[in-house]
Amino acid sequence: MKRAVYPGSFDPVTFGHLDVIRRASEVFDVLIVSVLNNKVKTPLFSVEERVKILKDATKGIPNVEVDSFTGLLINYAAEKNIHVAVRGLRAITDFEYELQIAQTNRKLSGGNLDTIFLTTSLEYAYLSSSSVKEIASFGGDISQCVPEFVAKMIYEKYHIL
Ligand code: PNS
Repeated sequence: MKRAVYPGSFDPVTFGHLDVIRRASEVFDVLIVSVLNNKVKTPLFSVEERVKILKDATKGIPNVEVDSFTGLLINYAAEKNIHVAVRGLRAITDFEYELQIAQTNRKLSGGNLDTIFLTTSLEYAYLSSSSVKEIASFGGDISQCVPEFVAKMIYEKYHIL
């Protein structure tokens, strides 16, 4: 069984993430999408909310599981006996950051955790969770960025609906 983890903040999940999830689910037998519980960042959605959103958004993909983790990805992956992480690459600007994380994880795990990159589909290359939040906070249209139920939840957070 080929299993992989797709780690991220997913605050909130966007169509770009969902595109990576769908495509990675076709490459691996099981894909675990795991939300980082990052104590340093102040997220818009709690980890529990993000897990619930991801479960709802991926319910049509049977080999996708949703989970959360705290601490180092290499430790979480080792616990789950997973040796591949999946990440999306939007543009060259992502590359340096992603390369550093991937190499750190490979080194720290003693070669036990490799990273596979999927290039984001062009129509989502401009998308980021941060820009979605910024647009929504000013009442802008995010219907092309996130599923409708997620958009509604974001506007509610900003007291816009
Ligand atoms: O969606 P994001 O915020 O770009 O995801 C970043 C993430 C969660 C993949 C990365 O920050 C991570 O794996 N953090 C867990 C802590 C860790 O393992 N750090 C070592 C790599 S430098």
